[in-house]
Amino acid sequence: MLILHILGATVWAGGHIVLATLILPEVLRKKDARLLLSFEEKYERIGMPALLIQIITGLWMAYYYLPDPGGWFTLQTSLSVHIVIKLSLLLATVLLAVDARFRVIPRLSRENLTDMAWHIIGVTILAVVFVITGVSLRTGGLF
Ligand code: HEM
Repeated sequence: MLILHILGATVWAGGHIVLATLILPEVLRKKDARLLLSFEEKYERIGMPALLIQIITGLWMAYYYLPDPGGWFTLQTSLSVHIVIKLSLLLATVLLAVDARFRVIPRLSRENLTDMAWHIIGVTILAVVFVITGVSLRTGGLF
C-alpha cells in the first residue's frame, strides 16, 4: 500500500508542480488556453487514477494504524491530527477540482485564465502539503 501511495503521490504532486511551474507561466504569458487544455487532457488520464489510488491506499493505511474511524476525528493523538489534516486537504482538493471541471474549464478562454491559474496553484499547494503531512506522519514530526 505504501509503495502505491508513494507512486500515486509522485504522479499527483509531481504532475501539478510541472503544470504550475512550467506550463502555467507560458499559458499566462501567451494568454493561450490551448496549451493548458492539451496538458490537462493527457495528464487527467493518469492524474485522476492517481488521486483515486491516494484515497484508497490512504484510507487503508489510516485504518491500519487506527482501526477505529471514530478515533480519526478526536484530534487527541498525533495520528488523528494527521488524518484530519489529510482528509481536509482531500476535501479542499475535490472542491477545487470539481469547480474547475464544471465551472472554469467548460468556459476556458483568455477572460478566465486567471481564475483557472488560481485553481491550479491552489491544488498544487494542497498536493505539496499532502506530501509534507505524509512524511510527518511517517517520521512523527510536525503535528
Ligand atoms: C493526493 C493526495 C495524497 C498525497 C500526495 C499523499 C502523499 C503522501 C506521502 C508522500 C506520504 C509519505 C510516505 C512515506 O513517508 O513513506 C504519505 C503517507 C501517508 N498518507 Fe498520504 N497522500 C495523499 C492522500 C492521503 C489520504 C487521502 C489519506 C487518508 C487519510 C492519506 C493517508 C496517509 C497515511 C496514513 C500515511 C502514512 C503511511 C506510512 O507512513 O506508513 N494520504 N502520503
